[in-house]
Amino acid sequence: MAEKKLEGAGLRGQVAGKTSLSTVGKEGKGLTYRGYEIEVLAEKASFEEVAYMLLYGNLPNQKEFNTYSEKLKKLRALPNELKEVLENIPASAHPMDVMRTGCSMLGNLEPEGEFKNQNSSADRILASMASIIVYWYKFSHEDIKVDLETEYETIGGHFLSLLTDKEPSEDDIRCLDTSLILYAEHGFNASTFTARTCASTLSDIHSCITGAIGTLRGPLHGGANEAAMEMIEKYSSREEAHQAVLEMLDKKEKIMGFGHAVYSTEDPRNKIIKSWAEKLSKSGNDETLYQVSEEIEKTMDEEKNMFANTDFFMASAYHYLGIPTKLFTPLFVIGRTSGWAANIFEQRADNRIIRPSEEYIGPDHSDWVDIENR
Ligand code: COA
Repeated sequence: MAEKKLEGAGLRGQVAGKTSLSTVGKEGKGLTYRGYEIEVLAEKASFEEVAYMLLYGNLPNQKEFNTYSEKLKKLRALPNELKEVLENIPASAHPMDVMRTGCSMLGNLEPEGEFKNQNSSADRILASMASIIVYWYKFSHEDIKVDLETEYETIGGHFLSLLTDKEPSEDDIRCLDTSLILYAEHGFNASTFTARTCASTLSDIHSCITGAIGTLRGPLHGGANEAAMEMIEKYSSREEAHQAVLEMLDKKEKIMGFGHAVYSTEDPRNKIIKSWAEKLSKSGNDETLYQVSEEIEKTMDEEKNMFANTDFFMASAYHYLGIPTKLFTPLFVIGRTSGWAANIFEQRADNRIIRPSEEYIGPDHSDWVDIENR
């Protein structure tokens, strides 16, 4: 018999601290970053502008933005020692483990030091993430030591051009940029809470972000975009997908990319990335993946009254961009690094070590038995 869940399991609905970074599913507000609606940011901002706003507290003016973009661009190259570590990680490794090791190694080579340097470290980590994953991927899968200098202004353009070896289209860059904006920040989710817990011990930023990457790796969190893709690509028609979802639900299996711990009626990021997935599907020569995704969304709505979260259509959007499935969750890392770092700063600015209480459910008393008598 399944054990009864502890009251308040998963800390659901409990306020664990204050933030001025985002609202998630608040009535009348939806998803906002520092008061800006996600719909507005996805339409008007670049990812770098959003990252600046989260990390520095305000939207940059043109001069600040130019300086910031230029700074991030110069920080994309990786130290040789880090490249050597990446070259030693096998192709079979999980790319999230590569991200975790990459961030941790960077912390060995360029430790944060005093917290007054926190912005420099955050900018460096943010600028390096795309380089870390693509450098490892190209080396381990294609035997290429990729040149990490690119002319692209955005991290999205930099990532796509390194990965695909060709000039990405404006639409492709904008789609990736938008996805990074959607992933940038999201309240006290599991990985951000990990980062804040680590920061609350006054640990360094690399440790906080390394821990957050490990937390994001799981299929119930960031790994859902890859899990969704693995499911969607199995079906070659709407009918097949519909039938398969019915069978999975019958067996009480979870459909990845659906449901949410906070949102109850919709994930506001879904419609934004869904429209990108649709647009890209029409510009290519195969709309099947999009149609299958749409059918699964419809079936989940009809059968379970459940809605797609941002990871579901992120899967088809990334697929249409030509990104291998195993790199989907690392892209989540690239976007969320800005939010993690902003949360670390916020935690440090008004810190108390995070140490919740527990409900003890073990035995009242245990009698010691010497080892030879057990
Ligand atoms: N597919 C089918 N059923 C689902 C489901 C899904 N994706 N997500 C939740 N449910 C069902 C559960 O089986 C449970 O049913 P029950 O009450 O009959 O046991 C009920 O809905 C509540 O689910 P629960 O897992 O307790 O909700 P949660 O708030 O703890 O979890 C998620 C939220 C996001 C972890 C959960 O919905 C999930 O695992 N989704 C799939 C993974 C995913 O997409 N993660 C990315 C989140 S952005």
